[in-house]
Amino acid sequence: MKKVITYGTFDLLHHGHVNLLRRAKELGDYLIVGVTSSDFDKNRGKINVKQSLMDRIEAVKALGIADEVIPEEYYGQKIDDIRNYDVDIFAIGSDWRGHFDYLNEYCQVVYLDRTEGISSTQLREGHNHIALGIVGASRDISKFIAESKYVSGIDIVALFPDGDDYDLGDAVSQVDSLEALLAECDAVYVANAPERRHATTTTALEAGKHVLCESPVALTAAEAAASFALAREKGLVFHEAVKTAYALAFSRLTLLIKSGMIGTPVSVRSTCTSQAFASPAGSLIGWGPIASLPIFEMLGTNYLSASAASLYSRKDGTDVFTKVDFIYEGACASFEVGSGVKSEGELVIAGTKGYVYVPSPWWKTDYFEVRFEDFSSNKRYFYQLNGEGIRDEISVFAKTIQDGKKPNLDITEEQTVALSGLIEAYRAGTMTVHNLGLEAKGTTISFFQN
Ligand code: CTP
Repeated sequence: MKKVITYGTFDLLHHGHVNLLRRAKELGDYLIVGVTSSDFDKNRGKINVKQSLMDRIEAVKALGIADEVIPEEYYGQKIDDIRNYDVDIFAIGSDWRGHFDYLNEYCQVVYLDRTEGISSTQLREGHNHIALGIVGASRDISKFIAESKYVSGIDIVALFPDGDDYDLGDAVSQVDSLEALLAECDAVYVANAPERRHATTTTALEAGKHVLCESPVALTAAEAAASFALAREKGLVFHEAVKTAYALAFSRLTLLIKSGMIGTPVSVRSTCTSQAFASPAGSLIGWGPIASLPIFEMLGTNYLSASAASLYSRKDGTDVFTKVDFIYEGACASFEVGSGVKSEGELVIAGTKGYVYVPSPWWKTDYFEVRFEDFSSNKRYFYQLNGEGIRDEISVFAKTIQDGKKPNLDITEEQTVALSGLIEAYRAGTMTVHNLGLEAKGTTISFFQN
């Protein structure tokens, strides 16, 4: 019996897939189809897949062409499968010509002509295109624009700088008012100065636009909560854009801890500092959303008390360094944030059985370790990081709008509100803030908008 194997994502199954499968089957007597798992696709940088692995497997099975359907989960699996299933022919579309010649060592490799004029990407893009407007202009926005190109179904249509003077070149056309921007788009990425974000978000939601808002979304808890309430009332999507929350490694790290791998977490310590890129709003507002993320994620937002210590800029009085300590029932946490101060940007989460160590810069993590007293039990984890998490952040936002479903987010409304509440308490002095004085004379900090 001649066995043939082929692989693909088979998202939104179309006639190109059907033709390919038919022709693959005709090459032999028995056809095995490997359907690529979402994780493996993400690792390859394909993050927009619409259907779940189960749905895609079911769709391929329902065609009745394949004799066997299996998931494809790791690099190198093709070689394993060819050997284990005793495969004679590996078949794949001509768009992959040359790419799989290395499999000739194990079986015959056949490239089949691709059907012209159809692809899953095309179908995904055909689904509700989202016209996205941007408010603000900064280095992070230029990264956002670059990353948005990897997300199908999102078109950046215009940008309103709202007073920011960062030069974005001709990456996007600019308009000179928020109203003009709102007239052109279905959704808005709000990334202007932190103190202006809440008002911009409110205007955009009132105008019926979905909002992805840079973090902090507001400088008081009440304002943050009001944005969520307004979005709910209007049936719109409102997401906090804290990129690390969308990174695969961070998400896996969270699941692993919640599943009890290190026992009960008793301490979270996170550090985020930068000398080159400081937020003009100070280090707590600039870095606090990321630094507090693992704390609120692992220990919740119901801390018993929080206190801070800050060192201030001679130039404009903003905090160049802040340390915040939290006391929880049965646990404690702290974060250090600095703009113009440098420290080891690591994350340590200690638990009753072991701890998690994420090396610097932990907020751009693709790697972490779970460590135990018996070091032979230590485990290391690697996950692909797509554009610092920005690509996934945009993709989740787009998918939530298109599918009209509640997403499975690692950053909850409660956490977003708690962060704004922490900033509010710090600024209003309703929490203890120890004054460490002014930074040393002669310190120079280069300012970049967050
Ligand atoms: N295929 C084909 N003709 C098409 C589209 C896909 O023959 N018009 C083949 C591919 O070459 C591959 C298999 O179908 O062998 C599965 O491809 P997949 O990547 O799942 O489909 P695409 O439509 O190419 O998906 P995407 O746009 O996401 O790359």
